[in-house]
Amino acid sequence: MAFLCLAWFGVKAQQPTASYDIIPQPQQVQLKGGSAFELNATTVIAYPDGNDLMRRNAEFLRDYIQKHIGLKLGLTTNPPRMNCINLSLDPRMKTGEEGYTLVVDDRGVALMAAAENGIFYGIQTLRKSLPIAQQAQTVNLPAVQITDAPRFGYRGIHLDVARHFFDVDVVKQTIDMLALHNQNTFHWHLTDDQGWRVEIKRYPELTRFGSIRQRTVIGHNTPIYDNTPVGGFYTQEQMREVVEYAKERYITVIPEIDMPGHMLAVLACFPELGCTGGPYHVAEEWGIADDILCAGKEETFTFVENVLSELIEIFPSTYIHIGGDEAPRVRWQACEKCQARIRQLGLTKDDEHSAEDKLQTYFMARVEKFLNAKGRQIIGWEEIMEGDLSPTATVMSWRGAAAGIKAAKMGNDVIMSPASHAYLDYYQSENVSREPQAIGGFLPVEKVYSFDPMDQLNADQQKHIIGVQANLWTEYIPYQEQLQYMYMPRVAAISEVQWCQPANRSYDKFLKKLPKLVDLYQQLHWKYARHVLPADYVHQGSSQMQ
Ligand code: ACM
Ligand code: ZN
Repeated sequence: MAFLCLAWFGVKAQQPTASYDIIPQPQQVQLKGGSAFELNATTVIAYPDGNDLMRRNAEFLRDYIQKHIGLKLGLTTNPPRMNCINLSLDPRMKTGEEGYTLVVDDRGVALMAAAENGIFYGIQTLRKSLPIAQQAQTVNLPAVQITDAPRFGYRGIHLDVARHFFDVDVVKQTIDMLALHNQNTFHWHLTDDQGWRVEIKRYPELTRFGSIRQRTVIGHNTPIYDNTPVGGFYTQEQMREVVEYAKERYITVIPEIDMPGHMLAVLACFPELGCTGGPYHVAEEWGIADDILCAGKEETFTFVENVLSELIEIFPSTYIHIGGDEAPRVRWQACEKCQARIRQLGLTKDDEHSAEDKLQTYFMARVEKFLNAKGRQIIGWEEIMEGDLSPTATVMSWRGAAAGIKAAKMGNDVIMSPASHAYLDYYQSENVSREPQAIGGFLPVEKVYSFDPMDQLNADQQKHIIGVQANLWTEYIPYQEQLQYMYMPRVAAISEVQWCQPANRSYDKFLKKLPKLVDLYQQLHWKYARHVLPADYVHQGSSQMQ
């Protein structure tokens, strides 16, 4: 009874009030002390006439507000003087393409940016500031001036859909998650030994056979299998739909076709593209396969170019990721055609690299040249540095930060996604018996948060760190709930590494802000891990994966 009374007084005494303690932390938040703005059902959202992107932004804001607090606001292109959330562009603003200012006073909210994407991040800030999950007639927005812009232009999240397939709806929800955390790049790992997930019209075998593995090993390559076929792929139309969905949210989709390794699904369809001729089958176990594409055969390059030609018609991204990781050299060492190619190119081993390492350099460089001629740039995993690194390739550092540091010192662009701090397939707790099975490792939220991508680099070299990315490999992740549980809240931690200047980051403050963001996850029915939430954090229906 006492509790009920308190709750009743609480509601009477205090209207729901916004808080600007959000994730990622904006660069500057100056509370003004003047009267708050009272958002209510008659507030309107204004956007500039004739700008479709701004109209879409206004619709996003309207839909978020309706979802989060239950008020459906009207849209207008004619901003009234009072009671308005006014979205406007000013190309002279100095906050960069993704920055914005958000000013709240008793008349309303003025959200300004130099470009439409800046407005989108201002909208994310506004929605995260709302008192989530309270159905309200009015919400107070304290007077404030927020000035914000990201630290990195590339803020990526990766998803492996080869080991386990996730349908378009799951991919869209993942993109919604990126938008909420101000991330702007979705790295879609589309193919691997265990399944090919992309419709290529010229090679229907790839999806007819290459997308299906007959069974999957149980656990960490035990002798036991589940005897259940796993399949799934995206049609070109579906991938276009995802690209469009992401684009509306200012997210670029970068597709990855991993080569010359991680290609068993292709070899199962086209054994002639391997060094031994097979037979091969779509992998049923996890790990690194010795069988890779033969670099000695011209047919291999014809195949790769045909696949990429269709891929770039679907994905307009400047970057195409061509993998390059974990390609063992044993087949190339024993293959007459690969060895003939090595001789023909005059590749020789040196102190650091074998002739076969240099054959991989040749492979990647040839594919890069093909893509460059089509106006695209390549990203490769750090193994593309084993040999001679192309000066125009962007390196994704994953086995640690060392390769990224080395590449930045060589003047190459780098995306930092070291396993030590950014591999979200690692366990979140050392008490693994209470966790869903994972690949191994231990990556708690605090460690993700502590990542310093500029470590050991001088100012010139730092310019080559174009961004930071967290990766999610799905060998042990068959379900969407588990996918979300592995992402959240670690994507929130990486979002502050990606967005905030170092001086503006505080793990203690992050922890204090997290429950409010988790309220929002909860409202959206997204699963999350609770390890770093306060012990007394409860939200109706909140759940921990077991
Ligand atoms: C990787 O984790 N093999 C890039
Ligand atoms: Zn070969």
